[in-house]
Amino acid sequence: METPHVLIFPCPAQGHVNTMLKLAELLLIQNLHITFLNTEYIHNRLISLNIDDVKSISQCYPKLQFKTISDFQNKEKHPGFGENIVDVISSINMYGKPSLRDIIVSEKISCIILDGGFGDLATDLAAEFGIQLIHFRTVAASTVWIYFCMPKLLDCNEIPIRGDEDMDRIIRNVPGMENIIRCRDLPRFGTSNKMDHIILDKVLQLTQASLKGNAVILNTFEDLESPILSQIRLHFPKLYTIGPLHHHLNTMKKTTSSSFNSNFFKVDRTCMTWLESQPLKSVVYVSFGSTTTMTREEILEFWHGLLNSKKAFLWVIRPNMVQEKRLIKELEEGTSKEKGLIVEWAPQEEVLSHKAIGAFLTHSGWNSTLESVVCGVPMICWPYFSDQPLNSRFVSEVWKLGLDMKDVCDRNVVENMVNDIMVNKKEEFSKSATKMADLASKSVNPDGSSYNNLQDLIQYIRSTSP
Ligand code: UDX
Repeated sequence: METPHVLIFPCPAQGHVNTMLKLAELLLIQNLHITFLNTEYIHNRLISLNIDDVKSISQCYPKLQFKTISDFQNKEKHPGFGENIVDVISSINMYGKPSLRDIIVSEKISCIILDGGFGDLATDLAAEFGIQLIHFRTVAASTVWIYFCMPKLLDCNEIPIRGDEDMDRIIRNVPGMENIIRCRDLPRFGTSNKMDHIILDKVLQLTQASLKGNAVILNTFEDLESPILSQIRLHFPKLYTIGPLHHHLNTMKKTTSSSFNSNFFKVDRTCMTWLESQPLKSVVYVSFGSTTTMTREEILEFWHGLLNSKKAFLWVIRPNMVQEKRLIKELEEGTSKEKGLIVEWAPQEEVLSHKAIGAFLTHSGWNSTLESVVCGVPMICWPYFSDQPLNSRFVSEVWKLGLDMKDVCDRNVVENMVNDIMVNKKEEFSKSATKMADLASKSVNPDGSSYNNLQDLIQYIRSTSP
């Protein structure tokens, strides 16, 4: 039997490329052959910012190759990556199949691991060539499950949401989540609170596409989402939960931080030196992920709240996060070096595992959530869009790992929540965060659920490859 050749294709967004590269490395360690496909735009960005890492991973794994595909965007006015990712994905779906077909043929691909965000992109191709198609959903199991239940929610008139006054209504028809979520916790798109019909159609298409694949991979672990996973398994029998992927990889490689960086922004490592000078669990790490944008007013509310809390903070403000570039300078000038540091992009996994970090003020992206869980760092959640409002609800109400600040942006609330997490309720949050971190570690160690599921997945890929 030949070594299986797996094509891995992430959606062109930071959280997706990061995670799927980790999956690629886990499969490479097990000696599979990998072609990692990126859009040209993303590949060029990775190369320009992480050239040494790209060289080192390529040297380390001779069975890895990178390939690119067009995203069919105007090169001069490229939208980059962000909220418009849905449009970029639509273009790839519309025009990308011939290129994908060429790669499958020329590289003799035996299995495709496709980002679930691409929906049906490879369904026909996999059938035509008789190869396995596995969908990798980069979001939590709870999000996959909510998407699955959307038709039922529509039938029962639970959605669409009827307006701002409707936001606290409890959603009742999601098995396994009864009495947990309100309208305001449902996934959102764009700036509107409502989930419009176009988006709803897309979400339904993704679910249908995953059902047509041979298997589904989720970046989660059994102890974190077991009630939801047992619901999903009724519909997706071949479901592999192998996360937290970054932790799985680090554990397998016996390192504490990832060897390969896939940053879309230039990492500022000065924050690591700064953290060394801070006392144990004294710093709030603040980061709103790779796509969140904020208004001047919102940034200022957070800044005042953090200053008023009297806790030191390390804050990631990406250059494309605020329109007014001068604002970042203003904040830097108004913050003493002892109290706060602002950087454009941090080595987040390393930051979260630093002993000086006491809390994470986060947008609740799924990767950030898992990274915080693994390090046992309690969270204050300020979700922005997409799956984030649901993640933050689980963090606060189900796992009791932090507080949910959604739909509020007020300096007093920021100050109070920081003090609750760092001082008043420190013991209770630390206890539950440490307990969950232990379960995450257990899952990726030999005989843990994610460890075993990864071995099963590899066995499945090997046994179904021609
Ligand atoms: C969004 C979604 O909300 C997420 O749930 C989905 O799966 C992917 O798209 P994003 O805004 O990118 O994600 O957030 P997140 O999923 O948290 O991923 C951000 C990644 O960037 C994390 O892996 C984080 O470690 C990394 N990061 C962030 C850095 O390395 N440095 C930083 O300064 C900030």
